[in-house]
Amino acid sequence: MPPRPAPAPARDPGDLEYFAPCSLGVEAALTAELVELGARDLSTRPGGVSFRGDRRLGYLANLWLRSAVRVQDLLLRAPARGKDELYDAVYRIDWAQHMRLDQTLAVDASVRDSALTHSSFVALTVKDAIVDQFRARRGRRPSVNVNAPDLPLKVVLKADQLTIWRNLSGDSLHRRGYHALQVKSPLNEATAAGLLRLAAWDRASPLVDPMCGSGTFVIEAAMLAADRAPGLERRFAFERWPDLDAELLRTLRAEARARAKPTLPFPLEGSDRHGGAIAIARRSAEHAGVGALARFSVEDAARFTPSCAPPFTVLCNPPYGERIGEGDDLVASWRALGRFLAERCRGARAFVLCGNREMVPHLGLESGRQFSVMNGQIECRLLEYDLR
Ligand SMILES: C[S@@+](CC[C@H](N)C(=O)[O-])C[C@H]1O[C@@H](n2cnc3c(N)ncnc32)[C@H](O)[C@@H]1O
Repeated sequence: MPPRPAPAPARDPGDLEYFAPCSLGVEAALTAELVELGARDLSTRPGGVSFRGDRRLGYLANLWLRSAVRVQDLLLRAPARGKDELYDAVYRIDWAQHMRLDQTLAVDASVRDSALTHSSFVALTVKDAIVDQFRARRGRRPSVNVNAPDLPLKVVLKADQLTIWRNLSGDSLHRRGYHALQVKSPLNEATAAGLLRLAAWDRASPLVDPMCGSGTFVIEAAMLAADRAPGLERRFAFERWPDLDAELLRTLRAEARARAKPTLPFPLEGSDRHGGAIAIARRSAEHAGVGALARFSVEDAARFTPSCAPPFTVLCNPPYGERIGEGDDLVASWRALGRFLAERCRGARAFVLCGNREMVPHLGLESGRQFSVMNGQIECRLLEYDLR
């Protein structure tokens, strides 16, 4: 029998290494959120932020982060220059600490600049090492479930250096659960929250979206201003793990619930010409627990007049033209937005998420700062218009 690899050193729950991925372009927003949560040793990279902290911070990050899509904690960092070294490294972890035999796992691997070149082979080897360890020690092996695993693992092999992470969140954090129905081009909730931060909205004055679709900006703004934790009503993968501190999570959830403000002294307003979208927005706001804080109306942007007077912040993403034949209508939409901004937003700051540069001149306004952001697969720019 080959010698067993030495067990990996035990992790210190008071000092864990985390990584939180986000959409490209909103890293600065996520970094600011993590500073507010008390994270240490932050390092911002394209598409995410690494940081250190205790177990409590990991729970808080899942409950409170708005612009992250996931929170991961590091299990192991080791060299893996070939299959055997990879297998042995994975075997060093005592997997019974992270899942029970009757639970399921899934391994998602990515590989770059390494001797092992196939991510599916790396994922398979990691999975084999885990199930082999269970079989050797317990006589049976856990199953794989790629869709809804109890233990979702993220494996990264970069320049022959292996890192194995547990995905504490499970399902992506952008799925807050409030959008029961989807409109045609909804905005990812986590990206929307990141854009609110990039726009430096003060959370204490009105925010207006004249093309709000399913209302994502307005709902995220309401949750932010009301200090309502985005993860309050959802469940996380780590709640099913053997090392869950259930008492700690209960306390953090109760604290979060107590912080949520039921009212706000200023309006958050969304409007759209499409009545079906506004019906969805209203229902989603109710589901998000902010129905009383958001106002929605059916109106064309060319005619929409917010109930509040400037100064307020405008944040919107007009249509991009993803449908063939939408061209003329698209130009009309951008002109309508231009009229709205020029005629009814004097004294406001406006931010327009643009996924189609050809449309920008139709606004008829001079933009200031620009931020590059990915909205799903679409390369966008957040354009600032200072109308004060
Ligand atoms: C890309 S979608 C916005 C998605 C939205 N951010 C969300 O969270 O679902 C663009 C929206 O602009 C609306 N729209 C287009 N032209 C408009 C106009 N002239 N006046 C008002 N709304 C308009 C469309 O109905 C659509 O809902």
